[in-house]
Amino acid sequence: MQQGEIRIDSDKLHPLVQTLWRSAGSSETEARLVADHLVQANLAGHDSHGVGMIPSYMSSLKQGYLRQNQHVQVAKDAGAVLTVEGNKGFGQVAAFEAMSLGIERAQQLGMCAIALRNTHHIGRIGHWAEQCARAGLISFHFVNVVGDPMVAPFHGSDRRFGTNPFCAIFPRKDQPPLLLDFATSGIAFGKTRVAWNKGVEVAPGYLIDSQGKPTCAPAVMHETPYGSLLAFGLHKGYSLAVMCEILGGALSGGQTTHQSSLQSSVDAIFNSMTTIILDPQAFDAPQMQQEAEAFIDWVKSSPQVDEQPIQVPGEFEEAQRTARLRDGIPIDANTWQQILAAACEAGMSESELAEFI
Ligand SMILES: NC(=O)c1ccc[n+]([C@@H]2O[C@H](COP(=O)([O-])OP(=O)(O)OC[C@H]3O[C@@H](n4cnc5c(N)ncnc54)[C@H](O)[C@@H]3O)[C@@H](O)[C@H]2O)c1
Repeated sequence: MQQGEIRIDSDKLHPLVQTLWRSAGSSETEARLVADHLVQANLAGHDSHGVGMIPSYMSSLKQGYLRQNQHVQVAKDAGAVLTVEGNKGFGQVAAFEAMSLGIERAQQLGMCAIALRNTHHIGRIGHWAEQCARAGLISFHFVNVVGDPMVAPFHGSDRRFGTNPFCAIFPRKDQPPLLLDFATSGIAFGKTRVAWNKGVEVAPGYLIDSQGKPTCAPAVMHETPYGSLLAFGLHKGYSLAVMCEILGGALSGGQTTHQSSLQSSVDAIFNSMTTIILDPQAFDAPQMQQEAEAFIDWVKSSPQVDEQPIQVPGEFEEAQRTARLRDGIPIDANTWQQILAAACEAGMSESELAEFI
């Protein structure tokens, strides 16, 4: 395992990632959407869903799980409710297309529910919420990770369901949106990968080993015999994960996790996502923004207990974006080597790679 990290500017990293997927056979648009998403995830401070996913996606592609150059197909159009099929294509394309359809419909009708099923990994869910917020819309996202169990139920001892993220966004006037975006596991699986690659432990309370005993070793998520992640917030996080599984996986016409939907490969991650999009203009709330700002000011005026500032959801990502646009994106040496190996697998020559690094 290599130690240390490199720092790379996002405007150098993006063309490398785009060229990598072009070389692997993606269309120009697909390669750009995947690069946009992965680099934006790193910029937002979520390295677990950034360019470090490239080796996993490449492995998925080589094994025939990930299908390139797919587009969503509308399976059912019921007006304010749309259901679309992802065809196991790149989630970065499927979710972009699904959000575009949902945004258009919500702008016509005041709201829309759009269910996207059977797509390869859709990555950082906040990216899709931000697409809605850029159009001035509010969104809620319930996501399941199909047939790839990693999280133990509350009071359970083995992995039964995915890290099922939940996300919500509220656009603010002249400010970055409020953005809640997290896995319902205490930490995202990708964060155990980042810790494992760095050779460090994770904080207590997030993992159990294969016997159901608490551990801080990220290896239990990457080497057999596998342990499990725990849901955040005891029964509350577990219950939210259950709702993400049902609303994301079952309501979309996709699959939930159970014996017959278990997958043999850990490198192929499939998501289904049900999104509810609301046009704030459709509500009778002329004071909405002022009320939101008054609340934010109110919570922030609480006396601090330590040096840590009181933040509202979304400020973490905004601060990371500012710092990483300025200082570059940190990537640990191990992950960087895996990305370069994936670039070679994609068909990039050493001289082509040298142009980017
Ligand atoms: N596609 C998938 O299958 C999948 C599965 C799991 C997670 N994910 C993604 O993984 C990413 C990381 O998830 P995570 O669970 O590690 O996120 P996390 O634990 O880092 O939590 C992030 C959320 O907490 C907020 N936050 C952070 N610090 C805060 C503070 N001090 N005060 C108030 N709010 C604060 C952030 O703004 C954000 O909304 C997310 O983008 C999620 O969408 C994707």
